[in-house]
Amino acid sequence: MSDTPAAGRRGWLDGDSILVTGGGSGLGRALTDRFVEEGARVTVVDHDPDKLAVLEKDHGTDTVRAVHGDVTSLEDLRAAVATAEEAFGGLDTLVPNAGIWDYHRTLTRLGEDDPTAAFDELFHVNVLGYLLAAQAAWKSLVASRGSIVFTLSNASFWPNGGGPLYTASKHAGLGLMRELAYELAPKVRVNAVAPGGMRTDLRGPASLDLGGRSISRSFDKAAARGGSAPMVPLYESTTEPEDFTGPYVLLASRRDSGNVTGTVVPVDGGIAVRGFATPAGGADL
Ligand SMILES: NC(=O)c1ccc[n+]([C@@H]2O[C@H](COP(=O)([O-])OP(=O)(O)OC[C@H]3O[C@@H](n4cnc5c(N)ncnc54)[C@H](O)[C@@H]3O)[C@@H](O)[C@H]2O)c1
Repeated sequence: MSDTPAAGRRGWLDGDSILVTGGGSGLGRALTDRFVEEGARVTVVDHDPDKLAVLEKDHGTDTVRAVHGDVTSLEDLRAAVATAEEAFGGLDTLVPNAGIWDYHRTLTRLGEDDPTAAFDELFHVNVLGYLLAAQAAWKSLVASRGSIVFTLSNASFWPNGGGPLYTASKHAGLGLMRELAYELAPKVRVNAVAPGGMRTDLRGPASLDLGGRSISRSFDKAAARGGSAPMVPLYESTTEPEDFTGPYVLLASRRDSGNVTGTVVPVDGGIAVRGFATPAGGADL
């Protein structure tokens, strides 16, 4: 990318129509704001009507359409795709993003409880929700020669980004992205961004009684303790969701990523280049 969009363009995604699942808060909301800033019009599907009301009030319906729906419902996702087509003339990019976390509920902490209900709930949102979004959108994306950008996670590659339920679901998301990249080529590109920890409203499964808990509390507690120990090389980097949006713009851009499919951009502070004793040489600077 050069420093500025081409002459006459308002942003890198000028005129594009983008559908974001889970755009009511956190990363999805930050992505919606960023895509609008880049000249796109955005349809958001989310199951929280209060968050959607704020979103539409902030942006207005000329640029953002909110669809109340659940990502585990193919019907709701089809309605969201139809809204994008009717309101904004088609669909250029799909961002399957709505997810829930397991709050590091390890195998041993699951105790004697049967994890089947929590597994079903988490996999329905984090994996089936992505598959159904792709199923609802692929014909529109073929028509536009568009693309899909999944939100994955450091837990798609490494342990301890959650417990076994979340880690398995995000590994499954990686496999799904790769399979769809193969199946939908050459007309639709499929890629992913894998963020590390962000201060969002990420919730847990209701079946583990974690539906009301927000990951933002963990960040607030760590800040109150004076910050957490450096675990990644770029430990001074921000955890605000808006600072994770750039790679989505890059991957959605036909001009800049036209030859890119089946790949993941990790935005995790450098987990892959941790050392054994200190986070990185930079720790001594
Ligand atoms: N927060 C982190 O530290 C972190 C790290 C890596 C990856 N992620 C991933 O980022 C993505 C976005 O999560 P976030 O952290 O922004 O959390 P968030 O809770 O702030 O945003 C998720 C949004 O999805 C919506 N949602 C949840 N379940 C839904 C459903 N069944 N149907 C429709 N909408 C639903 C919520 O209402 C919310 O608006 C998730 O896939 C998550 O796994 C988060």
